[in-house]
Amino acid sequence: MHESPFFTPPPHLAVVQACSVALDFNMASERGTGNLLQVLAASKPGGRFLELGTGTGVATAWLLSGMDEHSTLISIDTDPNVQSVAREILGADPRLTLLTEDAETWLRIRAAAVRPFPSPAIDQPEKFDLIFADAMPGKFIARDKALALVAPGGFYVVDDLLPQPNWPEGHAEKIPPLQYTLSSHPGFFSLPMAWASGIMVLVRRPPIAAALP
Ligand SMILES: C[S@@+](CC[C@H](N)C(=O)[O-])C[C@H]1O[C@@H](n2cnc3c(N)ncnc32)[C@H](O)[C@@H]1O
Repeated sequence: MHESPFFTPPPHLAVVQACSVALDFNMASERGTGNLLQVLAASKPGGRFLELGTGTGVATAWLLSGMDEHSTLISIDTDPNVQSVAREILGADPRLTLLTEDAETWLRIRAAAVRPFPSPAIDQPEKFDLIFADAMPGKFIARDKALALVAPGGFYVVDDLLPQPNWPEGHAEKIPPLQYTLSSHPGFFSLPMAWASGIMVLVRRPPIAAALP
């Protein structure tokens, strides 16, 4: 399967990519990942989106390009230097909130407020229609917290599951357990894809209706 020649790149993608090269940032998402995120974002009008690991904003740009005007995106990174590219080039978009903080702490605080049996009388923290977990938090650390924040029918997406030249020593061993844990999660349907850098898409399963015909 080849990437489509008819893809619609985000308006600011070329500038963000040029800045990434200038900063020597080599962890930016590739086109196939971005294209998938754009398609998934477009499937959720009025959607709430979360990206863990902004980097310079490559996937941020792809997500924004698929979102409608009522959708919102929170993107988090600890590194203000790389995130400044996203802030400068995409930061004026009112749908985007960029946070410069530790995503693990953010996830733990946010997930702690989720009640297992929500009541209409008690405010629930916002859940997300798509989470792109592209940092250690949400993917290898506090993953259960990220999954708890996926709304019914919402997507959880990870990439870089196929061997990458920039993987540090010891990283490859973490991939099979990650794939096993994600694909065996009872709350989600999952789809591993040999696409782009190797992707897994999870969708939160609907509650099973007791009296289906
Ligand atoms: C793979 S890159 C993100 C690439 C970006 N999503 C894209 O598509 O181009 C991972 C990012 O996670 C950030 N990061 C590392 N530890 C983090 C943490 N604890 N909280 C938030 N971000 C973190 C790094 O600074 C880096 O920019």
